[in-house]
Amino acid sequence: MLVTGIEILEKAHKEGYAVGAFNTSNLEITQAIVEAAEETKSPVIIQVSEGGLKYAGIETISAIVRTMAEKASVPIALHLDHGTDFNTVMKCLRNGWTSVMMDASKLPLEENIKVTKTVVQIAHGMGVSVEAEIGKIGGTEDNITVDEREAAMTDPQEALKFAKETGVDYLAIAIGTAHGPYKGEPKLDFDRLKKIKEMLNIPLVLHGASGVPEEAIKKAVSLGINKINIDTDIRQAFARRLRDLLEKDSEVYDPRKILGPCRDAMKEVIKQKMILFGAAGKA
Ligand code: G3H
Ligand code: 13P
Ligand code: ZN
Ligand code: NA
Repeated sequence: MLVTGIEILEKAHKEGYAVGAFNTSNLEITQAIVEAAEETKSPVIIQVSEGGLKYAGIETISAIVRTMAEKASVPIALHLDHGTDFNTVMKCLRNGWTSVMMDASKLPLEENIKVTKTVVQIAHGMGVSVEAEIGKIGGTEDNITVDEREAAMTDPQEALKFAKETGVDYLAIAIGTAHGPYKGEPKLDFDRLKKIKEMLNIPLVLHGASGVPEEAIKKAVSLGINKINIDTDIRQAFARRLRDLLEKDSEVYDPRKILGPCRDAMKEVIKQKMILFGAAGKA
């Protein structure tokens, strides 16, 4: 069933587990996510980035995800990932999305608060939940110094002020993860996470979770992370299977015979994440 983001995340927050939020931009990735959720009986968040919207078209991807979510036996939310443009957020509300992220984390704190607060007012009026970001979660390709990395992390006092003034439902925090594949091993600031959870007591979101070691994920969940964003690990599973399949079979040409196995490879990765996050069996 299609449900709001907060419906899924409030339960995760109370019971102490995390729900996977997986990025899609086409039919096969969406099928992989929904099948993984059904097979592990997990609640799930299906999210689309602004780039994903541009690739698939908002009406088309909305229809694909909404149709599959409505038919599913597990709770599914359709979420906008990193909405940096206010108008894009509004378009998602118009297209029946059940969760949106207003990401104004690049703006100064007061401006981030102002735009997030407006989105919260409008979205809540329509029964849609809102995620926002405080601190800056960059990419693994960003060449930044240790000091710059530290400065980008979420300040607990600022996070508290932000949550109080905006009324946001769940908050993405910067504690050392980055988008994309890591070169070395990421070092997460668990003390910061613990402090933020104690002060805010709302569902918290971990971005850039592909490539984070299992033990670090488990610790982050135990300290209060309730939504975990995964994109790169799914993309890599897809590409690995595709390369392997085409290498082994130079005759195959039916897209279904190519994309079907790639879809299964993505599904396996997603199922493992759902189990790791503690979401399996929680639907
Ligand atoms: O946060 C980034 C997500 O992985 C989406 O990436 O902008 O390439 O769709 P994208
Ligand atoms: P990864 O690509 O590192 O999994 O990050 C995904 C993400 O944070 C989407 O918002
Ligand atoms: Zn992200
Ligand atoms: Na990552």
